Parts: sequence; C-alpha cells; structure tokens
Amino acid sequence: SLPVENVQTLASKNLNNIPSRYIRPEVEFDVVSIDESQQIPVIDMSKLDHDDEQKKLHQACKDWGFFQLINHGVADEVIEKMKTDTQEFFNLPLEEKMAYAKIPNYLEGYGQAFVLSEDQKLDWGDMLFLFGLPVSIRDPRFRPTNPPSLGASFDKYSMKLHKVMIYLMKLMANNLGTDPEMLASFFEDGIQGIRMNYYPPCAEASKVYGLAPHSDATGLTLLLQVNEVEGLQIKRNEKWVPVKPIPAAFIINIGDMMEIMSNGEYKSIEHRAVVNPEKERLSIAAFHNPKSCTQIGPLPDLIKTNKALYKTVSFEEFMKLKMSSKLDGKFMVKKLKL
Ligand code: SIN
Ligand code: FE2
Repeated sequence: SLPVENVQTLASKNLNNIPSRYIRPEVEFDVVSIDESQQIPVIDMSKLDHDDEQKKLHQACKDWGFFQLINHGVADEVIEKMKTDTQEFFNLPLEEKMAYAKIPNYLEGYGQAFVLSEDQKLDWGDMLFLFGLPVSIRDPRFRPTNPPSLGASFDKYSMKLHKVMIYLMKLMANNLGTDPEMLASFFEDGIQGIRMNYYPPCAEASKVYGLAPHSDATGLTLLLQVNEVEGLQIKRNEKWVPVKPIPAAFIINIGDMMEIMSNGEYKSIEHRAVVNPEKERLSIAAFHNPKSCTQIGPLPDLIKTNKALYKTVSFEEFMKLKMSSKLDGKFMVKKLKL
C-alpha cells in the first residue's frame, strides 16, 4: 500500500489547477443527473414502538437502503461535543495531527486511505479513523490528546450510537421475520469503527470526489453531518440524489453485510461525497460490523423457503476480500452473489 499526500495542506496552497490524480473523467459526472425531487425517508425513533413506524422502517430498508433517524434519544450535548472536538482536531496544525498518522498494516489513524497503485485516482479528503468498540481493540497511539476532551466525547458518542444500532437491529430482525436476539447477538460485541471525514474546499470541486462511489461493507452505518455544507449523494434509479441532512439526525444506511444477511431483502446502496468550491465539509461515519467470529451469509430463518442468494463466508474472509480491492461500487455484494 502507498501513502497519499495530505489534502488539507494541498488545498491550502490555493492552486489554480489541482493535480490530475484528483480529477475524475468527466463522464462520471455526466452520465448521472441530479434529481432533487426525491428525499430519503425520515424515521422517528420515538415512534418506533408503533407498528406504523416499524413498517415505515422496513420499507425504507427495502426500497431505499437509506433513511434519516430523528428523535433518536442521543443527547444534543453528546452530538455537539463530538462535532466541535472533531472540527477542532482538523483545525490543528499538520504536525500535531501527524502525531496520529496512519501507518501501514493498521486501520486506525489520521490521513488518507492507502492506495493500491501509483495511477489510482485520489479522493479530495483527509480522515481520522478510530475503533470505538470493542474497547480492547482501541490503540492509544492513534487517539488524539488534543483537543483534550476528544477522547471522552468519542467514547460517549461511540457507546450511544452502539445502543441505537442494537435497537434498530432488533426491529429489523423482527421486520425480516428472524430472531431479534440472534441478530443482535452478532452485533452486541461487534466491531465499531468511526471515521471523521474532512473535505477541504476545492477550486475544481465539480471535477473531484470527496469520496468515490462505494457501498459500505458494514452491517449498519450511522452518519452525522458536522457542519451545514452538504455533499452526500446516493444512487437511486441510476441517478445521484443529494441528501439534505436534518440537523442532529443520523443518516443511516444498510451495508453489504446486512444486505447479505437479509438475503437481499434489504439493499446496500452506492453513495459518494462531493466537495464544495468555497467551504470545507465535515462528516462522521460510524460503521457497525458483527463480531469477528460471525459467518457472513443469509440468516438461516430467511432461507427456509427462499433460496440463498449469496455465499456464506467468514468475517475474516470478507474483510480480506474487501481490503484487497479498491472502493468500487458494490463489488463485495457482486463477488458474493450466487
Ligand atoms: C461515507 O460514505 O462514509 C461518508 C459520506 C459523507 O461524507 O457524507
Ligand atoms: Fe460510505
């Protein structure tokens, strides 16, 4: 794997022409048109003890693979602290951030995703990736001590999101017709990774990606938009639909593992992040994976009458396949399709 230049530093040079490795072929932006008329469903967690809202959740997971969750019960101050500490971290001078730089063979740290080849296109963004859970896999070397409250904010945020995720998993299992306790048990001691994304402004914003199109490999992803700058787009009916974040709501999406476990009933949706010509954009993605001994395949209850649509592989095998390819659409789901 190869290291990549710091994008925040590159952006601060105010170059008229940015390096060609960031420029995407125009066709990628041309073939798709933005349809502003559609918005992802909004699910009210305070109503999820009612049938109607549960049905709405099921429909959102089937038809959209994406929804916004409001009234999720995570306190405003937990969210605000996580946002401001994340912003403060990225505001630090480069040398300070580099104390937590990613190193080969480790997933945590500050920087950019490593690339697999010299000619691979690059994304216009930096990130800080940390494990949230289980606590035992957190590596203190990568955990910033500045801003001083970041560690505590992160831990609280990590724990609260895990609770929301488990609550949703049980409802999803119910909606799918499988045992809620069994599905929840895979995720209860699961692996949670949290990626704080920083996308600097870009003079050629319409020609670059903050994050290239991909689907998440996870079970469930909970995304928080940090500032008011939008940029997330999801692929729906072959068009890119911009998401308009509701302040303090979580934007939640089904990942590849959940699509596979649900035997295709729920869909993991391709999405991408675009950048702004004048303003920086920040987001925080919390990825929830099952525990590492979980077999990734259609849940037994769901293939009693229907045939399995995906292969079953071990979690390790799944992750190995994923790490050895570059982010490219829904390649994991395609690889495992029967
Ligand atoms: C992601 O796909 O993980 C992040 C998207 C975003 O920044 O909105
Ligand atoms: Fe994603």
